Amino acid sequence: MNSVLDELTAISRAILAPERGLPDLIPQAQALRDIFEELAHFRIDHGRDIGAGETRLDCGLAISPTLAAMCLREPFRTLAFIRGLAEAIGDALRPERAVRVLYAGCGPYALLAVPLMTVFPREQVTFTLLDIHQECLDSALALIDILGLAGHVAGGVCADATRYEIPADGKPDVIVSETMAVCLRNEPQVSIARHLLAQAPEARMVPRSVSVEACLLNGDREHVLVPPDHLGEIPAPERDRIHLGKLFALDAAAIRSWRDMDGDRLPAGRVRIPDPVEGRYRPYLLTRIVVYGNHRLHDYDCSLTVPQPLRGKPQLTGGVALQFHYKLGPRPQLEYEVQG
Ligand SMILES: C[S@@+](CC[C@H](N)C(=O)[O-])C[C@H]1O[C@@H](n2cnc3c(N)ncnc32)[C@H](O)[C@@H]1O
Repeated sequence: MNSVLDELTAISRAILAPERGLPDLIPQAQALRDIFEELAHFRIDHGRDIGAGETRLDCGLAISPTLAAMCLREPFRTLAFIRGLAEAIGDALRPERAVRVLYAGCGPYALLAVPLMTVFPREQVTFTLLDIHQECLDSALALIDILGLAGHVAGGVCADATRYEIPADGKPDVIVSETMAVCLRNEPQVSIARHLLAQAPEARMVPRSVSVEACLLNGDREHVLVPPDHLGEIPAPERDRIHLGKLFALDAAAIRSWRDMDGDRLPAGRVRIPDPVEGRYRPYLLTRIVVYGNHRLHDYDCSLTVPQPLRGKPQLTGGVALQFHYKLGPRPQLEYEVQG
């Protein structure tokens, strides 16, 4: 196993090398995938329904172990989160004890944590792994054991993160959770971050911020189409968008501002459609993710940041306003009303 551990260590160091951009690190992301899919007990079974084993919680959908495993196949997402988590741990390092990381929704590979176990000694950082699905937790713990990294694990908890009570003597210094879908819809990221940060307000949160913005977008100018025999660099698209404004942000400040709010709605923004509005534009939502520090995910970097047409296809009458709110519950999402 030492040679695999050495390989994983080399890959992790390469991922964390600051001079390299995410596109340069695709081979490392692929190598991570090969190691994890080869070693883990959990196997993606192509004959199985990919949704089998998912759990619809009262805070949103906990995706199936198969879909959680497949997150590994989104290279920019994975690389940016590993880098951001490393920086958050670096900022939290302290001489008197190891940094405590709570990893809510570890999936079957504890993908964001395991590479960092090879570069930070366990005297510097330990991880508590939590997942609602026992199958994920068992697979992640077994993988860590196989790699000889079990000393980095402070605990493994099978629980709903929105109900988990953090032990008073084990408050985390860093909370990491990637339990979201594009536009913060359907999955429980908002409720998880809110519940955990309320118990550990000093903790660094990874992602640090997820926000959703509204824009008008001309779909014809989003991408540059090149012929199949095109040689050389693909020119950057000259996008044609009108930004309308930020609707919603999930970050520490917003979570603090919701502290005394009950009910199933969180406040969100209001935007006005310009008057007149030209026919080439459609309303879209953009998801912006600041993982931590300068580690960000931009439009189209991964499934979480693909611009989404605004649902319900509202009549784009110039001058109308759209008032949004964030609906909590089993199908959380941003909703809106059209106002005159
Ligand atoms: C998108 S996957 C992420 C897997 C892995 N952390 C990664 O980044 O590749 C989300 C994971 O969170 C778990 N999960 C979702 N909601 C949860 C909740 N309320 N409590 C605990 N785990 C949850 C799911 O079971 C799944 O394993």
